Amino acid sequence: MQIKVAEHAGFCFGVRQAVDKVYELSGEGAARPIFTLGPIIHNERVVDDLKKRGVLVADEVEDVPEDGLVVIRSHGVGESVIKKLESKKITYENATCPFVKKIHETVRKMSEAGQEIVIIGSGEHPEVKGILGWSKNGGTVIETHEQARMFCPDDPSNQVCVVAQTTFNSKKFKEFVEILEKKEYNLNVVNTICRATKERQEEAALLSAQCDGMIVIGGADSSNSRKLYEICKQQCENTFFIQTADAIEDITFDGFAALGITAGASTPNTLIQEVLEACQRK
Ligand code: F3S
Repeated sequence: MQIKVAEHAGFCFGVRQAVDKVYELSGEGAARPIFTLGPIIHNERVVDDLKKRGVLVADEVEDVPEDGLVVIRSHGVGESVIKKLESKKITYENATCPFVKKIHETVRKMSEAGQEIVIIGSGEHPEVKGILGWSKNGGTVIETHEQARMFCPDDPSNQVCVVAQTTFNSKKFKEFVEILEKKEYNLNVVNTICRATKERQEEAALLSAQCDGMIVIGGADSSNSRKLYEICKQQCENTFFIQTADAIEDITFDGFAALGITAGASTPNTLIQEVLEACQRK
C-alpha cells in the first residue's frame, strides 16, 4: 500500500509560534507561574507536556493569581479580556496569530465606522467569540445556510462587513456570501480564511480523491481538523478521524492501494510521524 502524507499537515505558523512561546517561557527557570487562557491548542499531549513544565490552564482571567503570567493563545481574545488583564495588572504575552489580530483590527475599525459585523464561523469557537469581542456594536455569527438566509441587518441601508473564522470551510464561506449578495445588501466582504487553512483543505480534497483510505489526525475539539475530515469524507468514503497512533490498530486497510494522511493545524509533527509508522507496520 502506498502511503502519502499531505505536505501541508500539522502545526500552522500561528499555532507554532504560540506553542513555542509557552515552551520558551515555561520550565525550570520560569520566574512566575504560567497560565494559558484555555488550552494552548486542542491537543491533549501538548497540554499534558506543558503541565509537566508548570503551565496551567485558566478558564477565566479571574482564575489567574496576581503573580501569574498569561499567554494568550493563537485564537486570540476579545478586547474586554485584554482590558481585564490590564486592569488587574496581570502580566501577559499576546500570542494571538497575526492573521487573527488583523481580523480584530478590521472588525474594530469597520464597526467604529458604523458597519454591521457578520462573522461566518462557529459561534461556539473561541476565535469567533474573540473576534466578536472587538466589535463596537455586536454582530451576527452565521454558521449554516439557513442562518445566512435568515440574516437581515438591523438597518438595511447599513453597510455590512463580512469576515470569516480563519479555519472556516472556504466553499461554504462562498456559498453564504452568495446568499447574502442575492439579498442585495451593501456588503463589505473581507475573506479572512487563512492561507494555511486553504492549503490544508485544498490538499486534503485532492489527496482524498486519489486515495482508497484517508486518515485525518486531530484533537476531538479541533474544529479545523473536523473540517478536514468533512472534506475528505466527501471524496473518500473510508475516511477516519483519529487522535492517537493507537487508533490505527482498529482500522482495516484491506484492499487499499493508496492511503492518505493529513492533520489539523494543532497536530504536532511527532504525532503525524507516529501515525505514519503505525500505518507502515500494518
Ligand atoms: Fe493563524 Fe492561520 Fe494558523 S490564522 S493560527 S496561521 S490557521
